[in-house]
Amino acid sequence: MIAQLRQQVLDGWESGADFFDQRWGDQGDEFHHEVFAPAAERMLGLEHGAKVIEFACGNGAFARRLGRRGMSVVATDLSPALIAHAERRTETISDQAVDVTYRTVDATDERAILNCGGPFDAAVCIMGVMSMPLLRPMFGGAWRVLRQRGVFVVVTLHPAFATSGYKFTKSEQDDEPHGLTIERYLSRYVTHGVTNTAQKEPQVYFHRSMSELLADAFASGLVLDGMEELSAPPQPTEEAKLIWNMLPDIPMAVALRFRRV
Ligand SMILES: C[S@@+](CC[C@H](N)C(=O)[O-])C[C@H]1O[C@@H](n2cnc3c(N)ncnc32)[C@H](O)[C@@H]1O
Repeated sequence: MIAQLRQQVLDGWESGADFFDQRWGDQGDEFHHEVFAPAAERMLGLEHGAKVIEFACGNGAFARRLGRRGMSVVATDLSPALIAHAERRTETISDQAVDVTYRTVDATDERAILNCGGPFDAAVCIMGVMSMPLLRPMFGGAWRVLRQRGVFVVVTLHPAFATSGYKFTKSEQDDEPHGLTIERYLSRYVTHGVTNTAQKEPQVYFHRSMSELLADAFASGLVLDGMEELSAPPQPTEEAKLIWNMLPDIPMAVALRFRRV
């Protein structure tokens, strides 16, 4: 069952890799570079030269961002096609040398994580946990490859608002969204997403409640020592205009900082 889910997740990201690479570009989309990446940086609080492992790095936007700030990064992702895009985009940085190495690693395979070396000062995973059928291997692997007092920052769509069974509620006057109705939250479930017409296989997403997400981290020995709830950027560019931009008081994402103590 898990092997089948892993394969479906891989097929979805491989099939969407070219589309997502184009959409994310060098810096990630607007949500990534204006909200998720700054939050991850704040919570990581890293100094020049810090050693970082990234899980689910996509086309490498955050790894390059850390590399440009002088961090040494091992950036990993399940999808070989996205890793190829990440390598190509990083090779073309001509203004400075960056210390970023990419590896194809399934973060639901703890042994594969342990093969990435270490000890690391920090680990990070941005918008990856929703694609993972299991979280214990990544949290357990992070605990083992982090140094003592090292941190693991996870940025994810907010389980309560943005992966739960929600619907936008509209105002009667102007049809603009003004809130959310949440219809389910506590139970686990799987959804599928197709973001472009050329995609042959859908993305598979796993909803889990906040307590379930945290339980997997705590069971691995990590403690939670920081949290920021994040809303969408208030002034969207035209092409990135999404409904979440109209709900600035509802956090569509959350950044969690765990620590190995
Ligand atoms: C929404 S994208 C986020 C990419 C990047 N972190 C960003 O913020 O731009 C989700 C990423 O998770 C990766 N992914 C999915 N399942 C994974 C797994 N089991 N192990 C590692 N990466 C995985 C996908 O290949 C994809 O690159």
